[in-house]
Amino acid sequence: MGYKVAVVGATGNVGREMLDILAERAFPADEVVALASRRSQGQDVSFGDKILKVKALDTYDFSDTDICLMSAGGEASKEWSPRIGSQGCVVIDNSSAFRYDSDVPLIVPEVNADAITGFTKKNIIANPNCSTAQLVVALKPLHEAATIKRVVVSTYQSVSGAGKDAMDELFNQTRSVFTAGEVKVEKFSKRIAFNVIPHIDVFMEDGYTKEEWKMVAETKKMLDPKIKLTATAVRVPVFIGHSESVNVEFERPLSPEQATEILRAAPGVLVVDKREPGGYITPHEAAGEDATYISRIREDATVENGLAFWCVSDNLRKGAALNAVQIAEVLINRKLLNKAKQAA
Ligand SMILES: NC(=O)c1ccc[n+]([C@@H]2O[C@H](COP(=O)([O-])OP(=O)(O)OC[C@H]3O[C@@H](n4cnc5c(N)ncnc54)[C@H](OP(=O)(O)O)[C@@H]3O)[C@@H](O)[C@H]2O)c1
Repeated sequence: MGYKVAVVGATGNVGREMLDILAERAFPADEVVALASRRSQGQDVSFGDKILKVKALDTYDFSDTDICLMSAGGEASKEWSPRIGSQGCVVIDNSSAFRYDSDVPLIVPEVNADAITGFTKKNIIANPNCSTAQLVVALKPLHEAATIKRVVVSTYQSVSGAGKDAMDELFNQTRSVFTAGEVKVEKFSKRIAFNVIPHIDVFMEDGYTKEEWKMVAETKKMLDPKIKLTATAVRVPVFIGHSESVNVEFERPLSPEQATEILRAAPGVLVVDKREPGGYITPHEAAGEDATYISRIREDATVENGLAFWCVSDNLRKGAALNAVQIAEVLINRKLLNKAKQAA
């Protein structure tokens, strides 16, 4: 038997990617429904070789839908996810609205798939922030091998992480720079074309941004609350693909060679690490791919048991849509969907 799947936010960056990934992976769906706001009602979106007509979220009845892949932002999720869950449809939510709720599992299947069983409390499962998802895929096997004490991470995050309007802003600003037109700053706080901005999401009292705080809170929730992590999140003029410079301090020694071997065997990871020009992965190559790529693995000799590496992934895929579809696959493979109906 196939399932009925709704994609909310189907006209957005993540929603479109979700439809592509459901089709690519031949997800066992009998029916896929594309939903967005009333603004997009009747619009066409592609799903494999089919075209779906977008329906409005606020008039859709979820009672016979099994899985809802939600990527319509935090406010829409806060309003809709609990209602959808109460109808027995499991919501896999891409926003940050429920990630820190102790009754909602936060899942990256390669990292903590077993934690999924807690979803029946609300019939909601949270997908992590894009920059955290790729980071924990890389950290998990290293943590198992040598126990991580502290992580220092600096991110280089593409504009697609801020939605489709942000991609348009980079495109339009870049064109304006070349044509000597007016460079309009709307979505970002400063010009993003030919620039980098050390500010993603709102500022918090301690001087960190919410994006940086999310990486701390989500790594602790999914991997280990004892891990100390400090992050600097930076927006860069790249369309797709987040990069991260990561320094890790372990409790026990772990050589670059051992780390390479462990990462090569880890699920979801591809190591590309030749110590020569071009022997590493950049976001340009990671865009459209599923893997979390690791390059530049080396000793960080400034601490005892330290390693440094470079980590790149497609933020719309592993950082959002792919991870959500993988969570749906875990629900199906572990035969957990009937529990959602019982819990409703
Ligand atoms: N981009 C990433 O790398 C990434 C990674 C992880 C998580 N996320 C999260 O995923 C979510 C979507 O991100 P995105 O990049 O896809 O944004 P986006 O490109 O701006 O798309 C937003 C989508 O949400 C829909 N939407 C907005 N308000 C709605 C409402 N009230 N009811 C129904 N649909 C509504 C929009 O529909 P209309 O076209 O009709 O307005 C559109 O389909 C956000 O919560 C974001 O934080 C994004």
